[in-house]
Amino acid sequence: MKNFDYDDLPALGRMAGWIAERLSPGDVLTLEGSLGVGKTELVRRIVGRLGHDASTVSSPTFSLVNFYDGDPRIVHIDLYRIESTVDLEGLDLEELLPIPDGIVMIEWPDIADHLVPRKRVSIRMRLTEEGNRRAEVEGLDESPVTGAQRKASGDGEDLAPSRSDENKQESSRS
Ligand SMILES: Nc1ncnc2c1ncn2[C@@H]1O[C@H](COP(=O)(O)OP(=O)(O)OP(=O)(O)O)[C@@H](O)[C@H]1O
Ligand SMILES: [Mg+2]
Repeated sequence: MKNFDYDDLPALGRMAGWIAERLSPGDVLTLEGSLGVGKTELVRRIVGRLGHDASTVSSPTFSLVNFYDGDPRIVHIDLYRIESTVDLEGLDLEELLPIPDGIVMIEWPDIADHLVPRKRVSIRMRLTEEGNRRAEVEGLDESPVTGAQRKASGDGEDLAPSRSDENKQESSRS
C-alpha cells in the first residue's frame, strides 16, 4: 500500500503521475471518499498523465459514465446517483468491466460493489481531523510499468522523475 498527502493540486498531480505510471490496460480503479474529497480531480489528472487531454474530463455525476477514446481507452464512472437496480441495469456495468484494452475508474464503487471486479486498484481518499488530504493506494506494484505497454507522458505540472534517468542506470548496469 502507498500513502499520499495531497493538500494542493500540484501534490494531487504528483500522485496521479505515480498511479498512471503503474497502470496497464485491463486495470479497474475504484475511488472512495466523501463528497468533494478530490476523486474527479484525481481522475482528471490520471487521464492527462495517460496521454489524453485532461481539460475534456468532467464529472460523470449525471451522465453516470464518460468515455475517453484513445490509447488506452478510458471509462470514468460515477455511481453516486444510482438509486435503483433499474438504474444499474441501464448502465450495464457487467458489460463495461473490465475492458481488456482500457482503464476503468469508478467513483463511489460501494454502491454496486458486487458488480465491480475484486481485482482492482483501490484508492481511498479522506480529510484528516486536522484538515489534511490523505490517500491510500492499494493494488499497484512499486515499480512502474515499463515498455510500450503504456505511454503516460505526464502533461501538466510536476512531472514524475524522468524515466530516461532510470533507463540510463539500467543500461549502465548491463
Ligand atoms: N488536492 C486538492 N487541493 C485543492 N483543491 C482540491 C484538491 N482536490 C480537489 N480539490 C477541489 O475540490 C473540489 C471537489 O473536487 P472533486 O470534484 O474532485 O471531488 P469528488 O471527490 O469527485 O466529489 P464527488 O463525490 O462529489 O464526485 C473541486 O473544486 C476540486 O478542484
Ligand atoms: Mg466526483
